[in-house]
Parts: sequence; C-alpha cells; structure tokens
Amino acid sequence: MSRTSSPNATDSADSHAADARSMSTGDIADLYDDMADQYERWDWANRLFTGPLRKRAFADARGRVLDVACGAGTNFRYLPSTAQLVGVDVSAEMVESARAELDRLRRGGTVYRMDAQDLAFPDDSFDTVISALSTCTFPDPVAALSEMARVCRPAGRVLLFEHGRSDVELLGRFQDWRADAHYERHGCRWTQDPLAHFEGTALTVRESEEFFQGMVTIIEARPATD
Ligand SMILES: C[S@@+](CC[C@H](N)C(=O)[O-])C[C@H]1O[C@@H](n2cnc3c(N)ncnc32)[C@H](O)[C@@H]1O
Repeated sequence: MSRTSSPNATDSADSHAADARSMSTGDIADLYDDMADQYERWDWANRLFTGPLRKRAFADARGRVLDVACGAGTNFRYLPSTAQLVGVDVSAEMVESARAELDRLRRGGTVYRMDAQDLAFPDDSFDTVISALSTCTFPDPVAALSEMARVCRPAGRVLLFEHGRSDVELLGRFQDWRADAHYERHGCRWTQDPLAHFEGTALTVRESEEFFQGMVTIIEARPATD
C-alpha cells in the first residue's frame, strides 16, 4: 500500500488496525478525496439503485440528525425537511460535495470534516444518528458505532443502511474472491457482516431487514439502557 496519511486527518483508529492490509483513517481520507468527483458525478445512479432503501431507512429521522460519513450528501434528500441536519465526513473533498448538495437542495444544515471514530460532539446531542455504507470503510467500526451511541440521546435512534457479504453462496464466493482488490480500490470490506460490529458497543439492535440477496441491511438500533 503506497498511500500516506493525510496530516489533517485524525488517526485515532490507526492503532486498532486489524491486519497488515488495513488502511489508516488518513489513507481512507486520501482515497475518498480522490474519488469525490466521481462520487458526485455518479450520484444520480447511486440514488437510482439505493434511493428507495435510503428512504425506507431514514424517512422518519427526527429532530437534530447527525449523518456520519455523509460522503457527497446522498442521504440528505431522503430526510424530512424538518430535520436539523449535521453531516460529518473525514474526506475534505467529500465534505465540499456534501455542502454543495445542501445548496442544491436549498436546505439548511452544516457539514464538518471529522473522524467518525472520535466525534467532536457532546454526549446525548442528537435525536437521530444515521449512516449509510460506512461501517465497511471505518478502520475501527466498533469505535465509530460507540461514538454514534455516545452522541445519541438515550431515547434517540441510530439508523443504518449497510452492506456486506451476500447469503447467496455463489455471490458471496465472488465477493470473497474479489475482497482484497475491492478493498484496495474502494477502502471497502464488502464481505463484512454489519451486524457483527454491534457486539461490544452500547447499542442494541431493535430491528434489521435484509435486501438484495443479503447484501444490503437496514438496521435500527438504540442506545442500550442499563
Ligand atoms: C462508501 S462512502 C459512503 C458515503 C455516503 N454515506 C453514501 O451513502 O453515499 C464511505 C464514506 O465514509 C467516509 N469515511 C470513511 N472513514 C471515515 C471516518 N473514520 N470518519 C468519517 N468519515 C469516514 C468516507 O470518506 C466516505 O465518504
């Protein structure tokens, strides 16, 4: 891996990198900086395929809403207009794209460059925390989910739209075969089990639904109450 860490990116999760080929948070920021133009250009196609499921996952997000790893702001249009929107992403270029999307949609909101694994928000500061297609790219998904739990109010919800290995064996095997190449190119572990990351976090999964042969999972979780 020839990528170097961005000096501005927070590398809090680097020490948790699980194996030799894991990218650091800085590597991921650099990778998505490079892909941001492409993401913005192809956002219409992304919405064509994923829009209905994003709507299903996020349409009843309430109150102050945090979109973690918001990318180019693809989720924004599926949120109710009453949501007070805050987005964060570790890639500076993605943050710019997300701000442009807010302008295009003529909706209020703020987008910050921030590491999902070390959120600069106080405890219990959001009613709803959402995130899409992100746990596969976090160097430390458990740390990111723990941060989502921390900033979510006790009566709030964490809503995720995630992807992983298909439960159709032939598809799953294809994903296994391409896993390393896909990770090198996209920083994405597409054979992950998104539900497995919840173990050891302060989040309780209330509901999960699978789509596209098990490759997409919509998850509703709540901060665990003692
Ligand atoms: C596959 S894209 C998904 C973007 C968007 N949520 C969507 O659904 O289109 C993954 C995003 O996660 C962001 N990301 C990865 N690691 C991050 C981290 N540690 N903190 C914040 N954002 C991160 C990347 O910069 C990228 O924008």
